[in-house]
Amino acid sequence: MARISIHNIQAMKLRGEKIAMLTAYDYPTAKLIDSVDIPIILVGDSLGMTVLGYESTVPVTMDDMLHHTRAVVRGSQNALIVADMPFMSYQTGASDAIRNAGRFLQEAGAQAVKLEGGAPVVEIVRALVSFGIPVMGHLGLTPQSINQLGGHKVQGKTPAAAVRLMSDAAALQEAGAFAVVLECVPAALGKLVTERLSIPTIGIGAGPYCDGQVQVLSDLLGLDPDFSPRHAKQYAHLAQEIQDAVKCYQREVQAGDFPTARESFSMDETVLAELSQMAV
Ligand code: KIV
Repeated sequence: MARISIHNIQAMKLRGEKIAMLTAYDYPTAKLIDSVDIPIILVGDSLGMTVLGYESTVPVTMDDMLHHTRAVVRGSQNALIVADMPFMSYQTGASDAIRNAGRFLQEAGAQAVKLEGGAPVVEIVRALVSFGIPVMGHLGLTPQSINQLGGHKVQGKTPAAAVRLMSDAAALQEAGAFAVVLECVPAALGKLVTERLSIPTIGIGAGPYCDGQVQVLSDLLGLDPDFSPRHAKQYAHLAQEIQDAVKCYQREVQAGDFPTARESFSMDETVLAELSQMAV
């Protein structure tokens, strides 16, 4: 069966069908997410924090992203796989952007890339799309610019910032982006942008009116007991479940209760008798 295409995603907006997108960074989680028909899996550079233990997405490299994108592609069959272009893989110009985005499609098997920013990246988006590389835009809080933004703050709150964001969104659409992520903007601004664009908006902390939502998988699963961003909802508390399972395992090993015969392998009695005669 063919994977979901960018055209299927755009048709969902036309039908008024909400789009649920999630991040994944490895084979097993991609397999689980894909099995429940999530239409878009984002291999986000948020893996810098959620998987690699960095403080931001800035240190994430092309090699990191390619490695994880390949695993996600191997784990999925149906979803559209969008690979995040890491910091400095596209900002340096269209030819670097084309080369690096091309690697995600050619070497890792992704179907699209995502990159951050408005006016400064519009011509890069146009170039990628003209060479057949589907692009998802990303506006509002753009984590690769965390040093410039000075923290994870809600964006687009002043009239000037809101107007700039609306015009960036229109420019990305005009350049050929097939969808745009809106991160941490007021819900009313998310609604305005969604109404004005013909391509889908995918919100994260951008209110309920966007055409779709994206969440970071570890936030949704409650994998980090010390961190839950305001825009996320924990649908499970896996940190606790994992710690309980590990404690239980440790207790059973220490008590000699694991493994039992059920988890062990038997040997033929005659072989065993022969062995016990041998002086090895
Ligand atoms: O890297 C990521 O996970 C993202 C989402 C937050 C949209 O860019």
